[in-house]
Amino acid sequence: MKYQVFDTYGQMCRRAANLISAQIILKEDCVLGLATGSTPLGIYKILVSWYEKADLDFAKVRTVNLDEYCGIAADDPQSYHYFMQKHLFSKVNIKAANAHMPNGLAADIQAECKRYDALIASLGGIDIQLLGIGHNGHIGFNEPADVFSKDTTYVKLSEDTIRSNARFFKAVSDIPRSAITMGMQSIMCSRKIILAANGKDKEDIIHKAMEGPITPEVPASILQLHPDVSVLFSKE
Ligand code: GLP
Repeated sequence: MKYQVFDTYGQMCRRAANLISAQIILKEDCVLGLATGSTPLGIYKILVSWYEKADLDFAKVRTVNLDEYCGIAADDPQSYHYFMQKHLFSKVNIKAANAHMPNGLAADIQAECKRYDALIASLGGIDIQLLGIGHNGHIGFNEPADVFSKDTTYVKLSEDTIRSNARFFKAVSDIPRSAITMGMQSIMCSRKIILAANGKDKEDIIHKAMEGPITPEVPASILQLHPDVSVLFSKE
């Protein structure tokens, strides 16, 4: 794993945006694996600004997001669909048909998980996957567990994650208790991975993930087995 520490969140975001834009420039129809949460916000802002300056073109780019809550509609401001529209998709020239996310309202969740894995495979896998990390080491919504989840899967969110995500909701009772998340196989088969984190509160878990035992109790620790991971960290 390549570990880079930055003084500021802005510098960390710029580095991540550089890696993503290099991928888009090298392969205009690349498959980007995208993440939500507060960490990628600055990264998306920079990508949008480069698109506005005509330095980046999303016309042929395909994207697959890591996860989506179950039980909330795509137009609900708390959904990850809404987040991606607001912060990236509506601001660049990506084609709606090329921006893929799990459907958290699918009537048959198991079938939806299978569809999502088949979709990722049909796109030829992910060229570059952007990941954030939860305080408990989760990536996407792959929560600490006894085994790593291979496939896209339905997850019940841990109490820790529900608490962490409470900042995005008006009331604790509004927070979804379950989600669909991309599994470890699609993440680990990504040709390149960026793990981005900021804030002193993430320092411990980043080190556990990079140097601790490889265990499903710290889901991000599996990234130690990937040949091309850039860990980008800033203390602020
Ligand atoms: C959510 C997302 C993760 C993300 C995590 C960290 O749980 N499902 O993909 O990495 O939040 O979010 P933040 O970047 O806001 O700390």
